[in-house]
Amino acid sequence: MANYADLKNHLAASPKTWLVTGVAGFIGSNLLETLLTLDQRVIGLDDFSTGKRRNLEDVRQLCGPARWLNFRLIEGTIGDLETCRFVCRNVDYVLHHAAVASVARSLKDPISTNESNVNGRDAGVRRFVYATSSSAYGDDPAPLKIECTVGRPLSPYAVTKYAGELYAYVFAQCYGFETIGLRYFNVFGPRQDPEGDYAAVIPKWIAALINRESIFLNGNGDISRDFIFVPDAVQANLLAATAAKPEAVNQVYNVALNKRTTLIELFSVLKELLLQSGHDVGACEPLYREFPSGDVWRSQADITKISKLLGFSPVYGVREGLAKTLPWYIKTAGRASRSLSTIAHRIASPGRV
Ligand SMILES: NC(=O)c1ccc[n+]([C@@H]2O[C@H](COP(=O)([O-])OP(=O)(O)OC[C@H]3O[C@@H](n4cnc5c(N)ncnc54)[C@H](O)[C@@H]3O)[C@@H](O)[C@H]2O)c1
Repeated sequence: MANYADLKNHLAASPKTWLVTGVAGFIGSNLLETLLTLDQRVIGLDDFSTGKRRNLEDVRQLCGPARWLNFRLIEGTIGDLETCRFVCRNVDYVLHHAAVASVARSLKDPISTNESNVNGRDAGVRRFVYATSSSAYGDDPAPLKIECTVGRPLSPYAVTKYAGELYAYVFAQCYGFETIGLRYFNVFGPRQDPEGDYAAVIPKWIAALINRESIFLNGNGDISRDFIFVPDAVQANLLAATAAKPEAVNQVYNVALNKRTTLIELFSVLKELLLQSGHDVGACEPLYREFPSGDVWRSQADITKISKLLGFSPVYGVREGLAKTLPWYIKTAGRASRSLSTIAHRIASPGRV
């Protein structure tokens, strides 16, 4: 079913059972919100290592008590085979998003990154959609990333993501296990954690701008990312899970807008949107710092493959997505400021890729 609107109508008319791993995280909780809104049944697995109970509470409030009854939370780790077998029973689709989702965290803690991102794969299901990452492109010098060409990984995180793709490929070949990997570029939107050392650039900068704290920019302002608003990442998941064409399955797809946004452009848009919403951020300017190891300079996706084989068609531009989620960031910024003030001296990074 190529058309996303048709797919949503079809699902709403004929509900399915979904397992979302990492359900209390940023993307996982957005998947949960859309699925419950479409009257789907959802089982969520999370160990709350980085996920937040308040994300689930947010979704409960947005979906209402009746739809919330279609959700069952299992607290546990994807590293435990019995737990995986248990949560996969009678599930139609798996959306596997549990992971230690940070380049910087993986540099500090490669062992537990590997535990969560690689060892949690043998879930005993026939087909699943899993989150991989643009970090799989590593040192590939091509300005536009195309699925079939990757370089050497630049961080332990990138190794785990690429290893996941290799396992998916081998499981498909050896066991007929159907998978689709979604190579996310930089996803942003509501419930992306603005707190902590490993926060992604967008929520971190908004919180810092609102709280008039220093913003540090790694490298010169030319570092760029292909940012994508989270409802479009959700679209990619639903299309991938239900893709019927045989040639669309057992593939890896870029999930992005095919738009290059430099960090200095991002900074300007954020400032402008915050000024429009009455925040006095006119005088703020970023402070430049050294570019960290393990991160990539430029990241832009070719999205021909996902458009052609899955019918993916992103709805939101970066500016539009930011304008739509800014109210959530503003609401949480006060909460974040208490933590951010303690780490203001640390370097803001483009975050996970
Ligand atoms: N956000 C992005 O821009 C981005 C980019 C590329 C790839 N990804 C990938 O997308 C997925 C979701 O990312 P996110 O941004 O929502 O991250 P997140 O940290 O918000 O969510 C990850 C969730 O997984 C849970 N988790 C971690 N280890 C677990 C384990 N062993 N067992 C059970 N639950 C566990 C965490 O508690 C958390 O709720 C990850 O696989 C990440 O690598 C995200």
